[in-house]
Amino acid sequence: MWTKERLQEIIATKMSDYTLVVVSNRQPYSHVLKSGKVICQRQPGGLVTALNPVLQATQGLWIGVGMSPYDQQVLDASGKVRVPPQGDNGYWLRRLFLSKEDMDGYYYGYSNEGLWPLAHIAYTRPNFIESDWQAYQKVNRMFADAILQEVGDRNAFVWVQDFHLTLVAKYLREANKPNIVTSLFWHIPWPNSEVFRICPQKNEILEGLLAYDMLGFHIRYHCDNFFASVNRELECRIDYERRSVSIQNHETLVRQFPISVDATYISQEVEQPETVERCNHLRDHFNIGDRKIILGIDRIDYTKGIPEKLKALNRFLEKHPEQKGQFSFLQLGQISRIHIPRYKQLNDEINALVEEINWKHSEGTWQPIILDRSYIDQADINALYRMSDVCVVSSLHDGMNLVAKEFVACRPDLNGVLLLSEFTGAARELTDAVVFNPYDTESFADALQMALTMPLEEQERRMRRMREIVFHNNIYRWAGKVLSQLLKFEFQEI
Ligand code: F6P
Repeated sequence: MWTKERLQEIIATKMSDYTLVVVSNRQPYSHVLKSGKVICQRQPGGLVTALNPVLQATQGLWIGVGMSPYDQQVLDASGKVRVPPQGDNGYWLRRLFLSKEDMDGYYYGYSNEGLWPLAHIAYTRPNFIESDWQAYQKVNRMFADAILQEVGDRNAFVWVQDFHLTLVAKYLREANKPNIVTSLFWHIPWPNSEVFRICPQKNEILEGLLAYDMLGFHIRYHCDNFFASVNRELECRIDYERRSVSIQNHETLVRQFPISVDATYISQEVEQPETVERCNHLRDHFNIGDRKIILGIDRIDYTKGIPEKLKALNRFLEKHPEQKGQFSFLQLGQISRIHIPRYKQLNDEINALVEEINWKHSEGTWQPIILDRSYIDQADINALYRMSDVCVVSSLHDGMNLVAKEFVACRPDLNGVLLLSEFTGAARELTDAVVFNPYDTESFADALQMALTMPLEEQERRMRRMREIVFHNNIYRWAGKVLSQLLKFEFQEI
């Protein structure tokens, strides 16, 4: 099995000449004020979950966008801070700061009102606005400048993350730096070419991506969609054998790398004796008593299918009134991208549904849904996975979804049922989950009943197989595969 130590060894032997630089919009840690003290908080989202252990293993540099004045206060003269603050697994974080205007155009606008809905096809219309595109280009250039400044003449492997930064490699290449090898990992789905063609900047985005030396997607289907878009829009040579695209004498490899988590570490963490205390505390905190728990943890986003989940719960209670009072449906998740009207509307919709369903099905002091949007630290999240009977991932479309993999990693007891939308990348690997269509309320409701009543032996059988997969395809194997492809050394299964 791939481990942190194995990855460290590979980096020491095969990459000793290279500096690893991870670049993303979302920074892994943020400094915030809590009870009058500045503390360092890990950030939500799959990207941070996956890459944080890789950076800890490799001691590289991470470049991301700082958000708060406290993020700025803690930086040294070169704009960097060491994270996480405790332990000897730290690495350097360089923060870039954007004006409100740039943030609006680049992040809220072009990235999240344009590319995000375009890629997810979750029936939210993409908006492409010229001034947002201008800001997007400007900020991508700022990232490229920061990379050039950090790397200098050293050999560097610059590993860019996600749809916010499609143009960075193009700007790096303009600076004519053969010492920099680049790769971009696309964490979300790549849509089919019919959908992608509506993007007014489709050629610029594709040409930007083809300036990278390698592109990574979670699954083969997204790679194939990318090839189809390139084939339709650009004059270039696609080599389906090598799985690469060549344009203007530059070849870009296109590969699938299903992302994952550090399953061994997570599993060991939840086996610590204090997890029991945490679980008891959380039961009290949410006033759950000894009822069963159905858990949902999602960033509040319309792609996650939260209203669909609530509607299915309503239908489930209509069909199975005998389940009233037997469980609590705990829906957690932080608000995100709230300056975008569609996200505000989603929040209102969720509030209204929770209110309505709780009113309709409540009995005495019992209400089916507990909704909590506050920040919960990773140890508490792991405890919640550990103590839940069912975990529901209902994404309408998701590149991978690491909540599903974290839940499995947190179940060394082999109990618990994973309900997993068929439209997640994770559903291709975790075939022992109860896989369902979140758009189909009736069968989603039936899946909830099946999960709550599944015999223990069947839970164990399914969980054992899912754990084998998540432990084998772990985050270090993912990173090892990316590095071996790009730096052209042989990848070995362990
Ligand atoms: O996984 C997709 C992604 O957009 C990541 O790039 C990001 O870190 C995460 O979701 C959370 O989104 P945001 O940073 O916009 O809150």
